[in-house]
Parts: sequence; structure tokens; C-alpha cells
Amino acid sequence: ITILEVWPFSLYWFFLLKNKGSPLFAFAPDGVAALPAPQNLSVHSTNMKHLLMWSPVVLPEETVYYSVEYQGEYESLYTSDIWIPSKWCSRTEGPECDVTDDITATVPYSLRVRAILGSQTSAWSILEQPFNRNSTILTPPGMEISKDGFHLVIELEDLGPQFQFLVAYWRREPDTKEHAKVVRKGGIPVHLETMEPGAPYCVKAQALVKAIGRHSAFSQTKCVEVQGEALPLVLALFAFFGFMLILVVVPLSMGQLLQYSCCPMVVLPDTLKITNSPQKLISCRREEVDVCATAMLSS
Ligand SMILES: *[C@@H]1O[C@H](CO)[C@@H](O)[C@H](O)[C@H]1NC(C)=O
Ligand SMILES: *[C@@H]1O[C@H](CO)[C@@H](O)[C@H](O)[C@H]1NC(C)=O
Repeated sequence: ITILEVWPFSLYWFFLLKNKGSPLFAFAPDGVAALPAPQNLSVHSTNMKHLLMWSPVVLPEETVYYSVEYQGEYESLYTSDIWIPSKWCSRTEGPECDVTDDITATVPYSLRVRAILGSQTSAWSILEQPFNRNSTILTPPGMEISKDGFHLVIELEDLGPQFQFLVAYWRREPDTKEHAKVVRKGGIPVHLETMEPGAPYCVKAQALVKAIGRHSAFSQTKCVEVQGEALPLVLALFAFFGFMLILVVVPLSMGQLLQYSCCPMVVLPDTLKITNSPQKLISCRREEVDVCATAMLSS
């Protein structure tokens, strides 16, 4: 090969020298460096979201793309030479591919990936153990509980259409039994029960995935209590003070009323003071009036 042929790959040489122990490039018989295949394939699957990951092919100053293909059980058994391109990763940049939409049945899936650089493609790397979505990790669902008036309301994490939830709830007091309810959808508030005041209501939930016949562990229990006594308490307090007011104020004012109307304490002007017997006062007054009258008449 000439220098001109080698020149575009000088970076590769440089890389090779830096990584003596594990040469990144195998050399095809015609002398052209072949693009290394991605290594270390694995599927990370949580809550029915499946992510195929691999160790990236790193070439300085180059952008390497990847394409992913799969085979379901049927293809593996009967048409093993036919691979189906992954819906989202026919030419993807990161070293991972969301294959959730490709894995539509609970059967073993074979997955493979190769690197693409310009017109070059690497060999395919195949996932060692076919992936079955029934191995997905199911985490306890996130949940929010709240009260809407006296209603106990739960809202579960929206984990997608595959998920239902088993919700267990109970009133936290001795000898109460647990109720269970299947909630068919996350992401929307669902009424569980009408609460009575006096004790908290507690809730826990687990995720169910029918497609794989499995469920998650239960979430941590959360409790909520209605303050049902608050309003009657205020009313009772008002009533009590009102009653006390009536008990205290009414007799007081009644007393004063009675005192004023029956036995008024009035300081009488001196002229009205009864010093002698009423009889004498009256006769005395009459004389005075008569004197005045006669005086007026005479004038
Ligand atoms: C392969 O993946 C594992 C983690 O999944 C990592 O620890 C390891 O370093 C990877 N190997 C290579 C060659 O990248
Ligand atoms: C998944 O399904 C396969 C059969 O297709 C079964 O052998 C395996 O035990 C299942 N794994 C789990 C975790 O349920």
C-alpha cells in the first residue's frame, strides 16, 4: 500500500500505538483497516423499558454510528438469516438503543449491533444471551396520595399501557381490614374511599404487568388523615362561649334592669327628701300653692 492509501488511516495507527495491548483494528487481507465491532452488549431493562447498550467504538475526531437489528423467537427458529432493523436505531449515534418498541412479545429476542463509519461497516456483535422481557426489573410504583374533601385520592406513576396497579388501603386503627383495588392506569387521580375523621388512612401500591405475569414489590406506605373535627370543634367552641355569654351577661343586665326598675338608687334633691310625715308635706305644699295662687290673683 502507498503512503496516500495509508494517510487517511494515520489516526487509526496513532490510536493503535496508544492501545498496544488491545488493537482496535483487525486487518483485512487487502490491508485496509476494518472498523471494529462494538463490544460488551447488554440489555438494561426496567419497568418494561428495554435499552440495549454496548461499549462504544472510539475513533478520534470521527463520529461512529451504529445500527441495531433483532430477531424474535419465530425468526430465530425459522428464518434465521432474516434480521429486522430496530425501529429507532438504524443509524444511531450514542452507544445505546431503546428497543422497547421492537420487543413486542414475551419470547427470547436476539439482538445485534454494528458500527458504521462513512461507507464502512463493522462486523455484527450479537448479544450473548437472548433477551426476554420477562426479566425486566419492576420497581415499586411512585404514588401520590391526597385528600379532596373527605375523599381519599391516589395518583400513580404513569408507566405506560402495559401497567396496572394493585392498591391496598386501610384505616389505621385496630381490627380494620385491608381493601384492595385494581387501578388500570397511572397518571390520573383515582378516588379510593370516602374517609371518616378520627384515624389516618394508609395506602400502598404495586405494579402489575400482565404481559409477563409479574408484579413489583409494594411501594412504601403513605398515610393521610382528614381533619373532620375541625369545623364542629369551632362550632362547639362558639356555642360554648355564646352560652357562657348568655349565662354571664344576661343575668347581669337583667339584674341591673330589675334594680333600675324596682329599686332605683337615686339621690333625691333635698326638696324631695321626706323629712316629715308625707301627710304633713302634702298639706304644707298645698298651703304654699294656695298662697301663690292668691298672690297671683291679687296682683
Ligand atoms: C463492559 O461493560 C461493563 C459494565 O456493563 C464494564 O464494566 C466493562 O468495563 C465493559 N467492558 C468494556 C471492554 O468496555
Ligand atoms: C421468562 O420466560 C421464560 C420462558 O419463556 C422462563 O423460562 C423464565 O423463567 C422466565 N423468567 C422470569 C424471570 O419470569
